[in-house]
Amino acid sequence: MGLLEVNDLRRTFGGIVALDGVTLDVERGETNVIIGPNGAGKTTLFNCITGYHMPDSGTVVFDGENITRKRDYEVARMGVRRTFQEVDVFDELTVAENISLGAFQTEPRELMDLLDLMDIRHKRGESLTLFERKRVALSLAADGQLLLLDEVFSGLNPAEKPAMIEYLNTLAREKTLMLIEHDIETAFDLADRVIVLSQGSVLGQGTPEAIKNDDRIQQEYLGEMAL
Ligand SMILES: Nc1ncnc2c1ncn2[C@@H]1O[C@H](COP(=O)(O)OP(=O)(O)OP(=O)(O)O)[C@@H](O)[C@H]1O
Ligand SMILES: [Mg+2]
Repeated sequence: MGLLEVNDLRRTFGGIVALDGVTLDVERGETNVIIGPNGAGKTTLFNCITGYHMPDSGTVVFDGENITRKRDYEVARMGVRRTFQEVDVFDELTVAENISLGAFQTEPRELMDLLDLMDIRHKRGESLTLFERKRVALSLAADGQLLLLDEVFSGLNPAEKPAMIEYLNTLAREKTLMLIEHDIETAFDLADRVIVLSQGSVLGQGTPEAIKNDDRIQQEYLGEMAL
């Protein structure tokens, strides 16, 4: 059994069907990258896995336990952690305070070492650069076993992107990752498996090779993109 099993997950907002029967699985230790157009339901999927939104129907099983109806803080304590598309760090607290507050399972010092935050541990949230804020959020996600990371590269400059890739590679050695990523090339580079989401449905989940060679996905999503 996979570390995460999502079965037939459905979530609507009024008349909008954000998730239309999503089924996928994540093996322990692998990195899955979710790609798909704006509004495909990627963030909603993260929200439903992590208890920020309740699905209308379907199930989420983490490490053999049904977590579908658990609240966000319960899911987080079990080791399913996430970052947000809009980074959130407490502005009035220092880096060290932010991390002490959010970490349940790991020594704050270990998390700060992992993301090179020791040198800036006394800096307050409000004076951090975007890259530093992202690393604080990432260090808190790294407190868990399954890390759901929503567009970690957005807003980073070209010099910061390779550094972020290094951090993700380091995390991937110990953790199970799910990433939402818009840049196809980056997505295919980082992924053990790729999940293609479109209009609330999974068009496919497979190795980058398998996804590239899937005619239906080529037609419906990848289209003209030369892969
Ligand atoms: N809280 C909400 N209230 C109403 N509609 C919502 C809400 N959250 C998401 N939606 C709708 O659900 C659909 C999926 O949105 P979602 O944010 O999951 O897409 P996404 O794939 O993450 O898109 P993006 O790439 O732009 O981040 C969209 O039509 C969106 O407008
Ligand atoms: Mg999103």
